[in-house]
Amino acid sequence: MSASAEDRAETASGSSEPVSVDLGEELRASNIQEVLDKLDRELIGLKPVKTRIRETAALLLVDRVRKKLNMTSFSPTLHMSFTGNPGTGKTTVALRMAEILHRLGYIREGHLVSVTRDDLVGQYIGHTAPKTREVIKKAMGGVLFIDEAYYLYKPDNERDYGQESIEILLQVMENNRDDLVVILAGYKDRMDQFFHSNPGFRSRVAHHLDFPDYSNDELLQISDLMLETQNYRLSDGARTVLATYIEARRHQPHFANARSLRNALDRARLRQANRLFESGRKVTVNDLMTIETEDITASRVFSGGLDSTGPGNGRP
Ligand SMILES: Nc1ncnc2c1ncn2[C@@H]1O[C@H](COP(=O)(O)OP(=O)(O)OP(=O)(O)O)[C@@H](O)[C@H]1O
Ligand SMILES: [Mg+2]
Repeated sequence: MSASAEDRAETASGSSEPVSVDLGEELRASNIQEVLDKLDRELIGLKPVKTRIRETAALLLVDRVRKKLNMTSFSPTLHMSFTGNPGTGKTTVALRMAEILHRLGYIREGHLVSVTRDDLVGQYIGHTAPKTREVIKKAMGGVLFIDEAYYLYKPDNERDYGQESIEILLQVMENNRDDLVVILAGYKDRMDQFFHSNPGFRSRVAHHLDFPDYSNDELLQISDLMLETQNYRLSDGARTVLATYIEARRHQPHFANARSLRNALDRARLRQANRLFESGRKVTVNDLMTIETEDITASRVFSGGLDSTGPGNGRP
């Protein structure tokens, strides 16, 4: 094996000779490119988010190399906020982020623990601290993803137990930042408000990623991708109707971007199965794979009704 970047760095430490590190080699050794490429391939759109992830990965890689050369390492703060409407990919990207941070050696395990207020805050006095600590314990060495983080803070209730949880979280975010990355997620305006009222969080969160709503065309591409991974495809007619569906669905209540499309496609597959079943004839592989126009047009969205499984914000 030829001298690695590490060997060279060690030989040179203490001497005044300039040393260099092969960044390409470092990149390959971390296997980070693979995750970044996968991110590009498997996630449609999200250009600004992808750019920020690349930048963060580059920053961490450079920091790692600086450490190897015994240069000052600034141990970047990695806590983040992900803002955007439901179904814009926040949870999905958080999972990828955990993997990237793990591959770059910033977290030991690379797992993601996803929680909401109810997982952190107790109902009775004395319950909150143990609950919050238990969650933190599970997340240590990985990423703690707090969905709709603003529910932790209730300004109209001074004695709300959420405050206790917030204080513990702030402490851990400061003291254990080399072993735990916290991602706060939620709607943009409410999150801005939350940061405004909680300067402690604001000063500890260095990276703010905004997830825009998907365009109609992106949602159509996401649908193609979702079906492809499940070994289904849309007939040409079905694809045209789905485009109309997307535009109509967008203006209905509880629209949740990619999540709404996932739900719509689940229902389309159900209709396809019923159609094939009721036809009672022999079916080909192609029949089994193809979502036809009628599997989409039967949606209640086209008859003026709501094409959702019930009340709520579009979540299953
Ligand atoms: N850019 C994308 N490309 C492909 N699939 C996507 C994309 N964004 C989201 N999805 C898919 O859409 C679904 C919803 O995404 P996800 O759960 O990450 O959204 P979210 O922002 O966390 O939503 P919520 O706020 O409702 O929790 C997932 O099944 C995910 O795989
Ligand atoms: Mg989510």
